[in-house]
Amino acid sequence: MPSQPSRLSASSDFSSSNARSRIEDTAKGVAQDKIVTGAKSNGGVISSADEQAGVARRLVVVTVVGSGYVGTTTAALLTALGIKTYAVDIDEAKVDKLKDGKAPFYEVGLDNLVAYGIDNNYLVPTSSYEESIPHASIVISAVGTPENADGSPDLRYVYSALESIAQNATGPLIYVQKSTVPVGTGRAIIAKYAELSDKPFSYVSAPEFLREGTAVVDSIEPDRIVVGGDDADSKHIITTIFRDISSRRAEIADIADQPIQNLPEPIAFNMSIESAELTKVTANAFLALKISFANSIAKLADSTNADVAEVMDAVGSDKRIGRAFLNAGRGYGGGCFPKDVKGLISSAKANNVAMDIMTAASNLNDSMPSYIVDRLKDELGELETKKIAILGLAFKAGTSDVRKSPGIKIANLLQQAGSKVSAYDPQAHNEALADLDEGIALLDSAQLAIKNADAIVVATEWPEFKDIDYSQTTAKLLFDAMNLLDSSMIVRNGLEYRGVGRRLKL
Ligand code: UGA
Repeated sequence: MPSQPSRLSASSDFSSSNARSRIEDTAKGVAQDKIVTGAKSNGGVISSADEQAGVARRLVVVTVVGSGYVGTTTAALLTALGIKTYAVDIDEAKVDKLKDGKAPFYEVGLDNLVAYGIDNNYLVPTSSYEESIPHASIVISAVGTPENADGSPDLRYVYSALESIAQNATGPLIYVQKSTVPVGTGRAIIAKYAELSDKPFSYVSAPEFLREGTAVVDSIEPDRIVVGGDDADSKHIITTIFRDISSRRAEIADIADQPIQNLPEPIAFNMSIESAELTKVTANAFLALKISFANSIAKLADSTNADVAEVMDAVGSDKRIGRAFLNAGRGYGGGCFPKDVKGLISSAKANNVAMDIMTAASNLNDSMPSYIVDRLKDELGELETKKIAILGLAFKAGTSDVRKSPGIKIANLLQQAGSKVSAYDPQAHNEALADLDEGIALLDSAQLAIKNADAIVVATEWPEFKDIDYSQTTAKLLFDAMNLLDSSMIVRNGLEYRGVGRRLKL
């Protein structure tokens, strides 16, 4: 179905505006020229706009609201294209870190891009909407959407950001939604903005598909660009900017000091706002479904002496299925899958649609940490007084994020069962502190954490856990809750090996 024509007067005003073509020209120009001309300390963008009067200057500036993973990565990539970009966040600590040329969290390659943006005066971190919004022609909203108690997304930051944007807008805006919001939110935002401001406003839903830990490389070589909106030109402008990030991947990768894979150019999908909103949560829900499916099969494998990795290698070689996200383990965590699965269930409920398939996936996922602990108990006989080392507290490798971390759940369950828990993570100690139960010891190295243990649990897929000297431990058992390690290497080091749905290979 073709995307719907403009319906709201704000969007129509925007479409008919002469400013539109100037934004388009500028967006293209900015994206094409700036890595080459980007060494100018004033950002180039501003100087070209300086030649035009008033409103034209605004057209080339982007404000990204929210300096989390999506917001910081997006802002940093725009500045790598030479686009003057304000990064607004109400958290002064994040703003200060960005001003120092560092990402507010650990994300490989991102510090280099942030430093580039700051050094070249393209990136302007601020906590002030008054400072940043009046200059912007494009505002990208990337604020957090935490989970309400009932599983629905809490949109309070989306709307408070919208209010601040509307209060400070001085001209037409393309408003790009990158936060994950339930289907139907875009329409509500368009209506709300019309109440708050009389300035032309064009809404574009441009969901983000980057993963934490690989945010930079995912963003410069994405599989697809999805834009949903009523105004074809606004969608075209946004698609052009994100396409240019991908066309300029070699230069950006160079700044970030990250490898590129030379993947094909992304496919651009142009759709309605509602379809774009639903695309985002559907993609995450399907990946979560694959993981829970693999974990269901792993449980069956555990009871039948099959090996889930062997099964999934063979099953995943079918092009219709694919091998990715069929790795069994302690289940998915993070700020996205658990929340987005529940958000989809809640959207379905609000529309009287059954989504039992996702409820089952979510319940299965919730069962995985206690499944690991129960299996440990089977192996050790008793958990009380046992010394257990947990390797990995981040919800996945490559990040310091511990939101809904299965490793932390396992550590806490063991502590509650009376075990003496020592834990190590290469990046996430500070972040883990608030969520770890009292009494759990954080050790400075993996080697120290495992030294005096009775059993070791690998709970995050950090590659460096493959290089630990497992001969230097008193532990007799290693439980690989990520199916990460080579079982024969563990056995050679004198430990018993257990995985999730894995048969011991000797
Ligand atoms: C996920 C999606 O993969 C991104 O495309 C999306 O943009 C992002 O959510 C988002 O909505 O912002 P992310 O949460 O960063 O990205 O992490 P993933 O790499 O997808 O992993 C999620 C969890 O699944 C981790 O805990 C990981 O350990 C686990 N996992 C992943 C498995 O247990 N098995 C697998 O086979 C794959």
